[in-house]
Amino acid sequence: MQNDVEKILLTKEQIAEKVESLGKELSNDFKDEKPLLVCILKGSVVFFADLIRAISIPIEIDFMSISSYGLSTKSSGEVKIIKDLDTSIENKHIIIVEDIVDSGYTLSYLKRLLFSRNPKSIKICTLLDKKERRVCDIEPDYVGFDIPDEFIIGYGLDYAEKYRNLSYIGVLKRSIYEK
Ligand code: IMP
Ligand code: MG
Repeated sequence: MQNDVEKILLTKEQIAEKVESLGKELSNDFKDEKPLLVCILKGSVVFFADLIRAISIPIEIDFMSISSYGLSTKSSGEVKIIKDLDTSIENKHIIIVEDIVDSGYTLSYLKRLLFSRNPKSIKICTLLDKKERRVCDIEPDYVGFDIPDEFIIGYGLDYAEKYRNLSYIGVLKRSIYEK
């Protein structure tokens, strides 16, 4: 796996430090709210597992699995729900936890969908933000790192389901996805 990495973008230590500070910020901002943190599978699972342990207030967690229909369809961000939440979000403060916001299609769809279920509030926390690539008018409320427009892998992020278990975030060699 290491051989497929062009360069390391964020080390294990840089990520850990950022996750710690995001956890503190969320603990402070939601101290009386008992928020429900929603993990968007699969990419967010590593970030999510670390983030919730950096939070010092009572929280609830739930999981949702979605997949994009693919950009080739020129679709307006229609995404498919593979696994929905187990719990009702009515009257709850929701924090959507994402690995990366790219075009913003996924989150903009998801936010609309969850809003229709009458939560008290919805905030978005993403580890990574590829701002340059944004198509939808959506701004995450909590961002770990702004990153350049490069294809990255590791710490939950995959290319063709591979590399999710790398402990750092790296740029994937072009030769891997252009062959
Ligand atoms: P969006 O709907 O375009 O914002 O897409 C977000 C999703 O695309 C993320 O949750 C990732 O699963 C995937 N994605 C976007 N950029 C990358 C990348 O550089 N590496 C791996 N997955 C990515
Ligand atoms: Mg994802």
